[in-house]
Amino acid sequence: MPIFLDSGNLKEIEKYLKMGIIRGVTTNPTILLKDGVRGGMQGIKERSLKIARLIEPLPLSVEVTTNDLLQMRLQAQELASIASNIVVKITIHGPNGEMQNLEVIHELESERNIRVNATAMMSAQQCLLAAMAGASYVSLFGGRVANMGYNPSDEIVRLHKVLNVFNLKAKIIIGSTREVLNVIEWLVAGADFVTVAPHFLEGMIVHPYSKETVRQFLEDAAKIGN
Ligand code: E4P
Repeated sequence: MPIFLDSGNLKEIEKYLKMGIIRGVTTNPTILLKDGVRGGMQGIKERSLKIARLIEPLPLSVEVTTNDLLQMRLQAQELASIASNIVVKITIHGPNGEMQNLEVIHELESERNIRVNATAMMSAQQCLLAAMAGASYVSLFGGRVANMGYNPSDEIVRLHKVLNVFNLKAKIIIGSTREVLNVIEWLVAGADFVTVAPHFLEGMIVHPYSKETVRQFLEDAAKIGN
């Protein structure tokens, strides 16, 4: 099941890891803040180390916290040195469209042997260029794409096609899940992974009619007796 957990919560990660239904974990500064991380880069490193050890050898994506080019490079090296299963997230460009982030992605992958998850992308064309720069993973934010009035599945179909045609190694991650239905929809469209918040996994598993069916089985089993 090609699913990543979009969470920095150790208990939630452990819960779904034990079920064998997640293949990696993704985080971003917003998720880590929500999940109680404080104390700057040191706090991020401490939580990342715990998650990385817990899920080893599955990949953990951790994002840099700056758009200063030198600091991005230094943080990327620092994060990657925490554990061999850490993938560094770099946004496709800066808050004002600064494009040199692609230089950093290219350098980390081709010269520093650091795996990069290029993130915060809203279109197949952004993902294609990040893949060409050498990113191991390209993250398209499906829910945010839909919020802008475009169908994320169309972007995924086109992205899957061009990555295959041009033999690019990047794996497609779709994040920003908004509904349980998104997971199957986006996988069918061609995503390699969908990264989901924990409550969506529960929504995928638990079905009211399954509950009723199981209740019926247990009641009838009790009537059969020992
Ligand atoms: C994916 O890698 C992102 O961390 C995440 O899914 C973004 O989701 P949001 O749009 O709900 O913030």
